[in-house]
Amino acid sequence: MVFKSHDNGFGSVTKSLHWVVAALFITVFSIGWYMDFLPLGMAKLEWMSRHKSLGITILGLAVLRIVWRLYEPSPKALSAHKLERLAAKLGHLGLYAVMIAMPLSGWMMSSAANFPVSVFGLFTLPNLVAPNKELFETLRTVHWGLSWAIAVLVGTHVAAALKHHFIDRDATLRRMLPHGTKKVAANPSKEHRNV
Ligand code: HEM
Repeated sequence: MVFKSHDNGFGSVTKSLHWVVAALFITVFSIGWYMDFLPLGMAKLEWMSRHKSLGITILGLAVLRIVWRLYEPSPKALSAHKLERLAAKLGHLGLYAVMIAMPLSGWMMSSAANFPVSVFGLFTLPNLVAPNKELFETLRTVHWGLSWAIAVLVGTHVAAALKHHFIDRDATLRRMLPHGTKKVAANPSKEHRNV
């Protein structure tokens, strides 16, 4: 098993973190929209509590993911177009940014509303800001705005992965899948087909 990413593929740590965070991200996003439509009551509060706990889990994993990303080399982008490579880089940067900004804005929003965040009932996080109704409303708008940014970023990201797979027919998606990476050392010109 290859733990670290290399020139032509992702390692198992990055792949695991990518898919766990992706699944959590989509789950927390869906819960967020679902609970917004629920009337005030026990069910809404329970879903809100799950939303917060899973959101904080994302924050922890995102920090881990960024630290690991800084530590290991990154595989070469397979696209031949400079602009496409730049767009991918900016998109990934945007995804890292929302992985941090979204849970953080939620945590700050709860603090501003003076509802400390309990993580799965195991421990309670300290408030990040003092209770403040105006700040709560601002953070609520930020959190809502970020959810649209996420929809655009993730939607574009998935569409790009599918375009690489079905139209360009390169290894971009395969090398992010569990058994999609072989470490090819010798002939770099064949790497795209081998991974
Ligand atoms: C079904 C959904 C998804 C698919 C099919 C998918 C696919 C991929 C693929 C193929 C790559 C590698 C791109 C490359 O080689 O340059 C990648 C990278 C990445 N994905 Fe996803 N992804 C999905 C969901 C997500 C979600 C929800 C997030 C954010 C929470 C995310 C964040 C990232 C980031 C930040 C990278 C860049 C990794 C790096 O730093 O090199 N992905 N994804």
